[in-house]
Amino acid sequence: MLKKQGKRKPLITFLFFGISLSIAIMQCTEQQIADMRGKQYAHRETCVQCHQDIAKSYLHNAHFNTSKELYTPHSTDSMGIDSGTFVFNEKTKVGIESRSNGLYQVAYVNEKNLKEERADIVFGAGKSAYTFAFWYGNKLMQMPLNYLVPSHEWVNSPGFPSEQIYFGRAIITRCLECHSSFVQSRIISSANFQLEEEFVKNSLIAGIDCQRCHGPAAEHVQFHQAHPKEKEARYMAKYRELSRSQKVDMCAVCHSGINLKMSNSAFFFKPGDTISNLPEYTSYTGEDPDVHGKQKQLLIASKCYQLSSLDCGTCHKTHGELAPTLATYSQSCVGCHQEVQHASLDKQALSIAKENCIDCHMPVRASKDIGFQRSASKEKLPYIQRTHRIAIY
Ligand code: HEC
Ligand code: HEC
Ligand code: HEC
Ligand code: HEC
Ligand code: HEC
Ligand code: HEC
Ligand code: HEC
Repeated sequence: MLKKQGKRKPLITFLFFGISLSIAIMQCTEQQIADMRGKQYAHRETCVQCHQDIAKSYLHNAHFNTSKELYTPHSTDSMGIDSGTFVFNEKTKVGIESRSNGLYQVAYVNEKNLKEERADIVFGAGKSAYTFAFWYGNKLMQMPLNYLVPSHEWVNSPGFPSEQIYFGRAIITRCLECHSSFVQSRIISSANFQLEEEFVKNSLIAGIDCQRCHGPAAEHVQFHQAHPKEKEARYMAKYRELSRSQKVDMCAVCHSGINLKMSNSAFFFKPGDTISNLPEYTSYTGEDPDVHGKQKQLLIASKCYQLSSLDCGTCHKTHGELAPTLATYSQSCVGCHQEVQHASLDKQALSIAKENCIDCHMPVRASKDIGFQRSASKEKLPYIQRTHRIAIY
């Protein structure tokens, strides 16, 4: 037995080197393909070489999956969405049809197919809702219907006409600034305050990738490839050395609503930049910010934030499980609040209080900005989020 294994070794070693060599060659050619964002950016697939655990767990992360191109006919299979029909009224319906080359939304008026489009891109990681878009020349247009994941229901897209099938709303760069890593665009007209934009189609980097949050990393990669023994990160912003507002703004660039105006494109926001000192940025001034996407404004209105050094990372582990259980979240509260008296609570409430601080102090709220119209109905389903204003409600 032992002898046999000894003999086999050279062959295994040979195979191992052979495979490593061909991987190395593949990686070299891959690296020559520039990242669309410019030479300072490393090829997005290089990070896994040295940060294997993070890169692997990240594949399941909501940030990574928040937008996807649906290249192949079966790319919607794993999303678990159903075919179906959305009824505006007796005459007007939208069919959702899964065909061999993709997922279609079809406008039927009096049973006649008047228009159909195939979903080319999906927004949403599958937590609450999907929005679909299709390429119309070099423009990206939103499809009439959204899909609600928890209830498996097709609904009219928020803000769309309630009696009409609408294929006419363009997806603009602003959506992609929060839901992707990059896209190159140009304004083709801005008449009547209506922005008309075109994209360079193959410049889209869907999903939020490592360099979207950590900044350009080509130099970092080159240095560490050349110095494999170096254990201290070089040419890379160190998160733990950032000030609190810099840390929070690294998240707030996408988590403080759509009215944020940046002097530079949000795509190039990097650790160390701050948004609050840019002109036209308004921070919390006592109004009641909508729960949709405004976690920063809400959080900084909390006493917890004002009277401690808490930041988003106190409760959210960005690479790991982004949305753990309420009991796990509650442990971060107890980290600062060991001895709460809760004199006003009865026995039953006190027993909940041990495991779940969230439902009472960060209750769910319906967004005032968006809601979803149901099929054959004028009823609107609310879009529900938690408030990040931690308080006594
Ligand atoms: C050739 C190896 C190598 C590659 C490739 C690489 N890194 Fe690193 N990186 C390191 C080493 C070594 C460290 C320091 C030890 C550590 O924190 O893991 C590091 C640390 C980091 C840190 C932590 C900085 C800190 O100290 O807070 C970040 C962030 C980072 N890398 C991002 C990236 C990104 C993004 C990519 C892909 C574009 C990448 N790295 C590719 C070797 C590499
Ligand atoms: C949504 C923003 C975001 C994205 C996307 C992101 N990171 Fe991070 N990363 C952070 C934050 C925040 C920290 C510091 C706190 C922490 O560890 O969670 C960090 C810390 C790190 C560190 C140092 C600490 C550690 O955990 O070892 C490395 C290395 C790193 N990131 C690599 C990566 C790589 C590789 C990717 C892509 C696969 C990636 N990051 C994607 C936000 C992000
Ligand atoms: C480039 C924009 C961007 C940045 C930067 C960003 N986020 Fe997000 N984040 C999003 C979007 C978009 C979603 C919605 C994902 C989805 O479900 O499609 C999201 C979702 C989340 C969620 C909910 C995840 C879930 O599984 O439901 C948490 C928590 C979160 N982000 C925290 C953070 C934190 C903490 C940071 C900073 C370290 C950060 N984000 C930085 C865009 C961003
Ligand atoms: C300022 C950043 C920002 C912009 C701009 C933005 N979103 Fe979002 N979006 C988010 C964040 C953050 C979430 C996570 C949930 C929340 O906070 O409401 C989200 C959630 C979503 C979801 C639900 C994902 C889920 O399952 O939780 C969809 C779908 C979506 N956005 C589509 C769009 C579309 C389409 C546009 C453009 C019309 C757009 N978003 C513009 C930040 C943004
Ligand atoms: C980093 C420390 C820290 C964390 C983590 C933290 N808090 Fe606080 N919180 C404080 C401080 C400091 C105050 C102000 C002094 C006080 O009331 O104890 C406060 C105040 C409060 C108050 C009183 C608010 C008011 O308006 O009077 C409530 C309720 C509260 N926290 C609940 C929570 C809950 C629930 C969590 C978890 C979701 C949490 N806190 C996480 C530090 C923290
Ligand atoms: C004190 C703890 C705490 C802090 C600090 C915190 N969050 Fe959260 N976050 C939560 C809890 C709890 C939830 C709700 C989880 C659930 O319902 O499953 C949540 C949910 C979210 C979601 C998902 C949307 C939703 O409403 O379910 C996003 C996005 C998010 N947080 C972003 C952020 C960002 C960005 C920051 C920093 C500005 C931040 N959070 C700071 C505790 C925190
Ligand atoms: C059933 C709802 C409920 C739950 C669950 C709950 N609280 Fe409270 N909390 C309240 C109410 C109501 C008050 C104000 C009256 C009082 O103190 O009894 C309060 C007050 C507080 C205060 C401010 C008063 C003080 O003593 O500093 C803090 C801090 C706090 N809660 C933290 C927590 C934490 C941490 C958890 C989870 C371990 C939690 N709460 C769970 C309802 C709740």
